[in-house]
Amino acid sequence: VRHPDVGTTPVTVPDLDTPALVVDLDVLERNLDAMADATAGAGVALRPHAKTHKCPEVARLQQQRGAVGVSVATVGEAEVFCDDGVDDIFVAYPVWASERRGRRMAGLAERCRLTVGVDSPAAADTLGRASRSSAGPLRVLVEVDSGHHRSGVLPDQAAAVATAAARAGLEVAGVFTFPGHGYGPGGAPEAAARDEATALARARDALEAAGIEVTVVSGGSTPTARATIRHPGPVNELRPGVYAFNDAQQLALGSCTPEQVALTAHATVVSAPAPDRLVLDAGSKVLGADRPSWVGGYGCVVEVPGATVTALSEHHAVVSLDPDAPRPGIGARVRVVPNHCCNAVNLVDELVVARGGVEVDRWAVAARGANT
Ligand SMILES: Cc1ncc(COP(=O)(O)O)c(C=O)c1O
Repeated sequence: VRHPDVGTTPVTVPDLDTPALVVDLDVLERNLDAMADATAGAGVALRPHAKTHKCPEVARLQQQRGAVGVSVATVGEAEVFCDDGVDDIFVAYPVWASERRGRRMAGLAERCRLTVGVDSPAAADTLGRASRSSAGPLRVLVEVDSGHHRSGVLPDQAAAVATAAARAGLEVAGVFTFPGHGYGPGGAPEAAARDEATALARARDALEAAGIEVTVVSGGSTPTARATIRHPGPVNELRPGVYAFNDAQQLALGSCTPEQVALTAHATVVSAPAPDRLVLDAGSKVLGADRPSWVGGYGCVVEVPGATVTALSEHHAVVSLDPDAPRPGIGARVRVVPNHCCNAVNLVDELVVARGGVEVDRWAVAARGANT
């Protein structure tokens, strides 16, 4: 796969010890602008998923461009972004409110508008208990399965969960889904976007028929975002996360171009033991080990078109290449586009931020480890 035009940051950010994850700030800003403009043009609110970057700095850039708040996966992530001043946070997850977590949620709800996911009457009861110790009722969205078959109830069951949640004392604001089955080859993203619209419309109608007012109909992932923006249907809020950085999965899906890749792992060729093999110092502990069957290898090496990262160990990436092709020498710096940027970011303490090949900042991955 040729990816000669990834980002704008040249390979040599000076004085950088590798491996390091480098954000090309120009590309990041362009990606944020494009999604903000597209969602605004479609009349859809943008609530980016912050688990991708885990950085308050990026959330601020997203909010400056009109994001209504952030989505997160855990109460711990919500605490990190709330501490930085984000005042509207959705935990897009079926939260189980143990007593301790319930207390943390009640505390958060006093400092920001907190919404969480629910997909069962039993979880609604635990949230109801947490709600009783918070200043006002906790706000929830019912999670609907639109075809990914992870969490979420079928659209026809959404009203029963919503009714149980209302009975538990929660404020039911609407419905949400994650069309994760759009991560696949061929027309998977477009088909998943259609499933998302159908499932959310049915769930919304079911809640309304049960007398529950629906103000939020939240969907989205990065692969499906383009199709949903073209035909939002019932969707009035989108939660893409990866679009900020993009990665080799999105390249394989065609949901970004090489020029839209904002995050790369800068690595050094540390060994060249055979004409058809190089070894980089970026292993699974910086790239992440994701490898869907429809992505060739564990990441794309920008400077060695046609090469494949065929094996990863913790601190080694084995790159297989044509023995007759031009190749970087030992000690050379190269960039690797990770398969899944969220998992790569989760592995480092900080991101190196560069503009035009010059390091301009370092951002702490502040929500790293905030898994509870
Ligand atoms: C519930 C939920 N919403 C939104 C997203 C963001 O989608 P993407 O990672 O495709 O940007 C995810 C990602 O896993 C998710 O799980």
